[in-house]
Amino acid sequence: MSETTHSTYARWFRDSTPYISAHRGKIFVVLLGGEALAHENLINIVHDLTLLHVLGVHLVLVHGARPQIDTAIPGARFHTHAGVRRRITEPGVMTDIVGTCAQQRARLEAAFSTGLPSSPLHNTDVKLVSGNLLLARPIGVLDGVDHQLTGQVRRVHTEAIRTYLQNGSIVLLSPIGYSPSGETFNLAAEEVAERVAVALRAEKLIIFDEAPFLTDEEGRRLSSLTPSQLDVDTLPQATTRGHARALLRAVREGVSSGQLVGYTEDGALLAELFTADGVGTQVVEQDMRTIRQATTEDVGDIVELIRPLEEAGTLVKRSRNVLEQEIHHFLVAELDGFVIGCCAIYPAGEHAELACVAVHPSHRAGAIGRRLLVSAEQLAIERGFTQLFVLTTQARDWFVEQGFKAGDIAELPAPRQELYNYQRNSQILIKKITPHSSDTTS
Ligand SMILES: CC(C)(COP(=O)(O)OP(=O)(O)OC[C@H]1O[C@@H](n2cnc3c(N)ncnc32)[C@H](O)[C@@H]1OP(=O)(O)O)[C@@H](O)C(=O)NCCC(=O)NCCS
Repeated sequence: MSETTHSTYARWFRDSTPYISAHRGKIFVVLLGGEALAHENLINIVHDLTLLHVLGVHLVLVHGARPQIDTAIPGARFHTHAGVRRRITEPGVMTDIVGTCAQQRARLEAAFSTGLPSSPLHNTDVKLVSGNLLLARPIGVLDGVDHQLTGQVRRVHTEAIRTYLQNGSIVLLSPIGYSPSGETFNLAAEEVAERVAVALRAEKLIIFDEAPFLTDEEGRRLSSLTPSQLDVDTLPQATTRGHARALLRAVREGVSSGQLVGYTEDGALLAELFTADGVGTQVVEQDMRTIRQATTEDVGDIVELIRPLEEAGTLVKRSRNVLEQEIHHFLVAELDGFVIGCCAIYPAGEHAELACVAVHPSHRAGAIGRRLLVSAEQLAIERGFTQLFVLTTQARDWFVEQGFKAGDIAELPAPRQELYNYQRNSQILIKKITPHSSDTTS
């Protein structure tokens, strides 16, 4: 490993520390559909799931088998109700469905059992447990069509699942359920994952999809959205629609977050869970981004956030010591417990200086900067300032769009004029603030 690779690796590993402690002891329900099981990247996903398990995450895996069942039993009848297409499961094909599901389960059990010295699973002792953990009932007659042995989840045996998890096992569930009368039902894997996540009050429902993330109309990744922002019917792929619907319902019923992650890309799960930016799409009940005053505990995160911008010369360098002393001047934007943006308001006579405005690159263009500014203005107004100014080299237009106007050195408070760095040649922007000025940008 070269020195640069060493430090990149070490930095990534260090940066993941807060996520490791945040995820430990939490229940994640993970759906691997039949398409994901058939993909060559499956083994990498298994390695990454093992890593999560080793790090103390309680995993419940739900596997699908839809494409495999379609191949094994061609010519099935389907019925679409309320946008959901379901197979009509005739009793004669149930044995083949159970057999196909068993093959897929065995495929996963085998993948989790590999432990050759060259494998990341070497020295890990991962045990998968399965069983009659779901009670099912028939979905019944929809639009006059009897769905026969196509079922839905009636109850999840949460106590048994929790016990297995506490004992250090990974629970593996197939899309099969049993009724008290002894009948076997064919279930939709996404519905199983959703119901299990809700019943267990899981921290996360993670669904592997062919799409690496959801996008807006312009094709840009949506890193985080609320259920009301998620318009399932506009998604192009039927499978993705089914997955998104499950995420949405789970989150509406109390699962803390739903995550859609691509199954084709090596490492997507880890990047989604252990980096501030993520790589997939997260669905959370409310916008978890809050703006608040910074505390000394935020200093480390702020240093991480602004260091690249200082190195690039966009922001003036501040030592950690200075930051610690000045932390009460800072506001931070927080998402899910992580600092994703900051700014500072320094008193300068009757004016206030806005400085150190930064948003993490992966959260830009999501109005975090604008919201930080609105909060900063409100704070400045509360503190009795009537004018805000900012010195910037790179973001003039952005501040102009937020209502700032070009100013010159003579308009700065006298002490600040003396400190003006002519070499840096920053542009001076000024905004008059009144109790109502911030409303326009809120
Ligand atoms: C400037 C910055 C804080 C904006 O944060 P943000 O959360 O992305 O901003 P918003 O979502 O509120 O606004 C996004 C819009 O501003 C535009 N924008 C972002 N940075 C810009 C810049 N430097 N100059 C001009 N426009 C910019 C985006 O293109 C986007 O426009 P669009 O909606 O038409 O696509 C962020 O880009 C950043 O951290 N930049 C690096 C640090 C910096 O320059 N700080 C200012 C010095 S004090």
